Parts: sequence; C-alpha cells; structure tokens
Amino acid sequence: MHYGGDYNPEQWPEEIWHEDVARMREAGVTMVSLGIFAWSRIQPAEGEFDLDWLDRVIDLLHEGGIAVDLATATASPPPWMHERYPEILPVTVDGVTLGPGSRQHYAPSSPVYRRLAAELVTVLAERYAGHPAVVMWHVNNEYGCHLHADYSDNARDAFRRWLRERYGTVDALNDAWGTSFWSQRYTSFDQVLPPRAAPYSHNPGQLLDFRRFTSDMLLECYLMEREIIRAAGATQPITTNFMGAFMPANYQQWAAHMDVVTDDAYPDPNDPESFRAGAFQRDLMRSLKPEVPWLLMEQATNALNWRPANAPKAPGQMEALSLQSVARGADGILFFQWRQSRAGAEKFHSAMLPHAGTGTRTWREVTRLGATLAALPELPVGQDDARVALVLDWESWWAVDSPDHPQNGLDYLEVVQRWYRALHRRHVQVDIVPPERVDGRYALALAPALYLLRPEGAAALDAFVRGGGHLLAGPFTDVVDPQDRFLDGGFLTRLGGVLGVGIEDFGALVAPDAPGPGEREAPLEGPFGAATGTLLAEEVVARGAETVATFTGGRRAGDPALTRHGAGDGVGWYLATVPDEDGCDAIAGHVLDQAGVAPVLAGLPPTVEAARRGDVVTVINFGAADVDVDVAGHELLRGADVESVTLAPFGVAMVRRS
Ligand code: GAL
Repeated sequence: MHYGGDYNPEQWPEEIWHEDVARMREAGVTMVSLGIFAWSRIQPAEGEFDLDWLDRVIDLLHEGGIAVDLATATASPPPWMHERYPEILPVTVDGVTLGPGSRQHYAPSSPVYRRLAAELVTVLAERYAGHPAVVMWHVNNEYGCHLHADYSDNARDAFRRWLRERYGTVDALNDAWGTSFWSQRYTSFDQVLPPRAAPYSHNPGQLLDFRRFTSDMLLECYLMEREIIRAAGATQPITTNFMGAFMPANYQQWAAHMDVVTDDAYPDPNDPESFRAGAFQRDLMRSLKPEVPWLLMEQATNALNWRPANAPKAPGQMEALSLQSVARGADGILFFQWRQSRAGAEKFHSAMLPHAGTGTRTWREVTRLGATLAALPELPVGQDDARVALVLDWESWWAVDSPDHPQNGLDYLEVVQRWYRALHRRHVQVDIVPPERVDGRYALALAPALYLLRPEGAAALDAFVRGGGHLLAGPFTDVVDPQDRFLDGGFLTRLGGVLGVGIEDFGALVAPDAPGPGEREAPLEGPFGAATGTLLAEEVVARGAETVATFTGGRRAGDPALTRHGAGDGVGWYLATVPDEDGCDAIAGHVLDQAGVAPVLAGLPPTVEAARRGDVVTVINFGAADVDVDVAGHELLRGADVESVTLAPFGVAMVRRS
C-alpha cells in the first residue's frame, strides 16, 4: 500500500523540507508525487536547468525512507515560454487565445511545446532514471483537465496530419464524413479545419474525429515523454493521473500505455449520494486494467476550493472513501497535497498537513489512515469475479454528445451511471467495460445507449448472448457505424438478431427538465411492477422476441417497452425507454434475477455498500445510523475473527472470508 500525496517543496523554504520529512514519517507516508508544477523552478530560462534543489529534496526524502513518484513537470509551462513562443498557447472554439497566469496553457499539438517538454523530460530522466528513491514516473498531470479541446493553428495542422494518416486519401475522408451533404466535399486535406465556431451544426463525422484527434494528441504527448524516460534507462513504472470518466480522453484506449492506472477523485461532501459516484469511478479504474492494482493518486483530506460551496468532509468520511478505493482494487491512497499552500489559487484546499497544523482533526485522520493502511496484509489482485458487465464506451459517449439527434437531452454518462447506481444499491459487483470486453465470464451485460457500435463490439455482444449470457440493451443502441453513419437495413442491424426486435422510430419525449409542452413520461408495466420511462419511447417491432413489459400510456400505449428473446444459449433483452431512477432499480432487479446474479452480500440497506476483492469483502456504512452486518471471517482492520460486525456511520469492515 502506497500512502502519501503531491509534494510541492518549491513553495517552501528549505528548512521546512526537513520538518516535512519528519512529519511524513509520523503520518506513515511511503511515497510522494514530486515536482508536478515545478517547471519554472527546474528551468528558469530556455536551456538553463537548476536541479541542485531537486537533488537535495530527493536525497532528503530517500534518507527519510520516503519513495518518489517523480513528475515530469510539463503541465504548466514557465513564463519565459509564452514570452518567447506565444504560438504555444491554446485557442478556444470561438477563437479566444487562452493566456498564461493559470496552468495548462499549452496547445498539446504545438511542436514548440513538445520540443521544450521533451528537453525538460530528457534532463530529468537522464538525471534520475537510476535514483534509488524514484519508484514511479508521473508524466504531466491530468491531461486535458481545464483544456478539453484546442482549436489553434497548431491543432489545425496536426488535425490535417492525423486525418491524412487515418484516411490516406481525401476521397476516403469524404466518404467517411458523408461530405456530399451540404456541399462539404473537400479536394485537399489543406481545406479541412478543426470544428471552430460556425453558423450551424458541424458535420458529425468531423466532430467525432476531432474528439478522437483531441484524445490522441494528449496521448501522443504522454507517449513522447514515456519514450524519453525509457530511453534514459528508467525501469520504474510510468503513469499519468486520470480523472475518472473524463470525456476528452479515451482512457479505455490509453490504459494499455500505462504501467499502472492512477486516478484523481473529488466526490462532493455536500452530496449524500456521492459515494455511489465514487464507487462507479473506482470500478471504472479497476476495469481499465484489472491485472494491475490501480492507485488513488489524488483526493482531498477535507474541503476543496473549486466548488461553489466547499463543504468539509464529515468525521470518518475521508477514511471511508479511501477504503472504498482499496475495496475496489486500489493499492495506494494519495492526496492533493502534502502541505497546504500558503499562497496561490489553492490555499484554501485541504491537505494532509493543514495550515492550522497538527492539532487538527484532519491531521489525526491522516495519521490514523496511514497506520491503518500500513497494517493491511497484501490484498488479492486480478480480474475478480464480477458477473455483471456495465458497458461504457468513450466513442459512443462522444457520438451521443453530438447535436442533431431525436433526443438531444440524453446525457450518456448519466444514463450509464443511473444503471450503475441501481446495481450498487443492490450490492452487485460490476465491471465497467467497452463492448469488446464482454465475454463469457459475465452472466449479464447492460448496454445502455450504445449508439455507436464497432464491428468488434457487435461481434462480442452477439457471441456473448449466443454463448449463454443475458444482454440488456437499449434504447438508442446499435444505430451508427464508427463514422457516425447509418448502416444499410435500418437500426439494430448488428444486434437485432440476438435481441429479436427492430426499431421503427426513436419516439423522443420532452426531456424531464426541458421547458415547453409535450409528453415527458412513458409509463410502463411488467413483472417488476410499474415504472416510468423518460427521454425516448421507441417504436419497437418484435421479430421473434416476446413482450415482457408494455407501455401503459401516452402515444406508445399498448406497445412493447421491454422484450426478451432467446438466442443460442442466452437471452437478449431490449428496453425501449430510459427508465427513471426507480425504474432502473426495478428492471435491474428483474434482469439480475433472471440471469441468476447474486449480490456480494444479501440483506443490506442501500446506503451500505459491499465490494469484493478476491476473498476479501468490504462493507462500508454510508448511512446515518448504525448497521449490523452478518459477515463471517477474519476482519482485517480489527485483526479479529468475526461472525458479524456493527458499523457506525462511515464505519468499514474488511473481512477475509473463510
Ligand atoms: C487536481 C490537480 C491538482 C489540484 C487538485 C485540487 O485537478 O491535479 O493539482 O489542483 O485538482 O483539487
């Protein structure tokens, strides 16, 4: 178990560093992420490097037995850079150049930025590749955070290069984007631009490729740094910190290039349900690379500075959320940051060592958590025994997010998370994967709004059902190909076989929060009781499937709302609407039952969560009252054999089951 946080010694005089190391030892810190925003300190001018201070800090940490996750410091360029090379600055969709004075003010595709970043990383890698304190490399920081897309001339040139590589000929590009529409036919790649502000809707193929390009540009930056570090002979694992389900970067594609997945998570203490979003984020991280334990690279010990109202965490909440990460596959808990800053935009952000000192609740909780983690035995690693796959796909997310759909109020991530919440309330273990990763290890796969479906994903889902799995799909699933174009033969052209249905119309309803008149809800009824559909009430035609639930009102009254179709050894379910929270709950219950999926633990209230990590079951009470839980085995936090545990609010038990 790693334990620690971001360490920014450049913000402090050197005497403080000695105190820092002593305090870190007291708190049980094992590793710090060093120098993430130290570029201007490391390189005060072009071609001029000052590494003596960094040598001293690293040596000091090493003497104190604290390992270093060494940052490459490329996330915030120093002032000399924009002074001399203003062309590195990013530009918004409206043509506004984003200036310096904050952080992340660089165009990821800028050749000048990349050259200067490469120079910095080369110097750092050559100097520290063999340093015994350095156990990990932290490339850049939160790629894409703040700057979700860049529309500068750097991006224009790089987008053309990227499109040339992808399509080879301009005719292939025209075909992929369907440019015969609205007179958009290109005769040269040099006519193509990023989708900058325009009079009306952009070409959807262009929008989708620009998202792919944006993710790829950030990934290229990461890969460039990674190669430099490796070329210098470094053998430590290399990573960059993710931000949960972050739309601009396709982490499902990136994960292959991380030696270890690391993640930053800031659930809102004001939201009593945010622990469910936390569980979703942690399951996503584990699912990205199940064979290697991930690390929680950043969280807050207490309050933040960047929400409209930054509530403190309640006593015990930080520890409960930390152990939630461990329960869901993490082998390390780190914070932003070690010592609270005394100046700058984040001076109100909590830290491990608060500005108010060691007489604080935060410090007591920090030292207690350090001791708790240090006492944990090694925990199981590897793909666990989740029987449910929740399908989340970045490309489908991007495509759904484009305009000009039957229902433009469909929030893809929110719909996926709504299903996750239903499963979480039922204490079911879930992996969150793209369609290509759905296979026979699962009993049930849920694929909501899988609008864009790649041929490989379609083949995997089809084989999954035929091999005996239950697939619950829809609505707005299997609509377009990877270029956001319809396929011949209508909709559900790939999954229609196993689902036994076709779609005639998407049947948009007025979104629940949209103004104006019109139908907003589609009531339905089935063996799970009555439920409410929202957003879409599709016109489904049965082609072999039986109707399980029927719309009971509105324009689709009497028509199928949920269908079931036996295909091969499995079952394809199709749902024609987006149920509300209770509806997802009821339908999830029915389908889990039919697929024979059991919860991690039965009989728990929905505010108590249960997660399995190999033979260790963790239960956490996120409710407001004490709860008794029947779970027998060796309780790792108390070091005792138990038959049951009583959990106070934010109480945790980790039970190795016999
Ligand atoms: C993260 C970032 C940290 C710090 C933190 C504050 O996005 O990586 O440097 O700013 O947020 O919550």
